[in-house]
Order: sequence, then C-alpha cells, then structure tokens
Amino acid sequence: MQNTDPLKPGYNFDAHLVAGLTPIIEGDELDFTIDRPGGMKGYIINLTSKGEGTIFSGEHAFNVRAGDLLLFPPSAAHFYQRSADSASWFHRWIYFRPRAFWNDWLTWHTEINGVYTTRDLPKNVTDAIEDLFIDIEYTAKSDLPYRNDLASNLLEQLLIRCKSVQPDVVTKPLDPRVIEAMNYMTQNLNQDFTLEDVAAHACLSPSRLGHLFRDETKMTMTQWRDDQRISRAKQLLVTTHYSVNHIGRIVGYSDPLYFSRVFKRKAGVSPKLYREQIT
Ligand code: FCB
Repeated sequence: MQNTDPLKPGYNFDAHLVAGLTPIIEGDELDFTIDRPGGMKGYIINLTSKGEGTIFSGEHAFNVRAGDLLLFPPSAAHFYQRSADSASWFHRWIYFRPRAFWNDWLTWHTEINGVYTTRDLPKNVTDAIEDLFIDIEYTAKSDLPYRNDLASNLLEQLLIRCKSVQPDVVTKPLDPRVIEAMNYMTQNLNQDFTLEDVAAHACLSPSRLGHLFRDETKMTMTQWRDDQRISRAKQLLVTTHYSVNHIGRIVGYSDPLYFSRVFKRKAGVSPKLYREQIT
C-alpha cells in the first residue's frame, strides 16, 4: 500500500507543493537517514529550527543548526540525518515544483555537492523566514479556497527573501546619473540615439558614462537598450495586431532584418514565432 505520511519513506511526492516539519529525536521512529541518491522531481527548501543535522557524509559532510537554510534542486542527492552530537534535529521543509519565472530565485551564492546553503543568518531574518514556512504549511493544509495559490504566493515571498539575503545580491541603489541615462533611453526607445546623446543628457563624457553604466549594471548601454527594446516588442507582439516590421520600428529598429536578428538572440525565437506561441 502506498505510504500517506510524507515523513516516512515511500511517500509519493506528486503534488506541486507539500510542506512539513520533521521532528527527529534520538531513538524515535523518525531517527533514520533520509537517503534519496537520485534526488526528487521537485525542489526542497529546508530550514533547521532546532538541534543539529548532518548533511552528506565523507568529504562533503557538513552540519546545520537553527536558522540554516538549504535548497536542493531536483536531482541533487538527499542524504541527511540527525547529527550524532545532537539529541534532536527539527527541520521544516517545503517540496515544490517551481514556476518558470522563479528561476532567478533558485540559485544561491554557495553550493556544496549540488545543494545550495545559506547559513548564519541574523535572528530577525531567520524568524521572518520561519514564519513564512509555518504559514505556507498551514495554508497548504487548510481548506481555504485558493489554498494552493495562496501557498504558492507565500512560497514566492519566501524564495525572494532567501534570494535577497545572498551576499552577491546588489542592494546598493543605482548612481543617479545611470538612472538618468536609463530614463533617457526608455523615453527615446524609438529614436536612433547615440551614446554621446545619452552622455550629454547625463552630464558625463561618453566614456565615463559607459564605464559607470557597466560597473553598476554589469552590462553595456547597448545591451541594456536592446533588452528594453525587445521586452517592449514582446509586449506589443502579444497585445496588438501590428505587423512585426511596424513593431520593430516602434521600438527603434528601422531595419526589419536587424530587428529579427536581435529579437531572436534575446528571446530564442523569431518575433513571428513568439507571437504564435503566446497568442
Ligand atoms: C521528509 C523528510 C524531509 C524532506 C521531505 C521531502 O520525509 O523528513 O526532510 O526531505 O521528506
């Protein structure tokens, strides 16, 4: 018979979101190693709330304690248990199948043997994160209307919070002159402006602005402008019946071939196919 308890081996995780707390106490029935060498179909996010766990064995082994977070991408091996030095290991976890646009939140700064880790977070951050874990579990198990959508929405918040505490996430506001340059480019997207025009507007020399822009955004102004143009073009392709060439002109490409080339490079498909796939 199929197991209906997700804390015991043999449970079939075929839902989009399953959340729980695994309270492992030395000698109890849950005191065994969770061992899934081939990983799972979905992701698992895991938060230690009490005690200590040991993840992996041998050279990859490490311990987790209160406030430490783990993110197992699908097919990353699961091998974890209560640490031999601790009488208990309580951990909260959420199994989920992500939506496509969550991708960016699902890579963290530090990875050990295919598993992302975030450790030593300050207590106030951990508390807010643990509250979300609890809320997600409670919501998913409730009989509220739209409980799955609500739980997914809370999970998005959780993933965004976890991503935003990564050490490589930029929190510094952009330099006002870079913002000025961005505003100019967005307002003149359909014009054939040059780097000199933008620089004059931001009161900098073209080379100074080019460097500053690159330092702050990790891309060149041309790349940034093309990204804006293509995302505007995507919007127009799905919300209007304008011809592809007309849309190309609206977003600043007077040469239709060039427009198609840039579009394909950024979107992976031609403008025509993009429209057909979405509408
Ligand atoms: C439970 C484990 C928990 C997590 C979920 C998916 O059985 O206790 O750590 O792996 O499965």
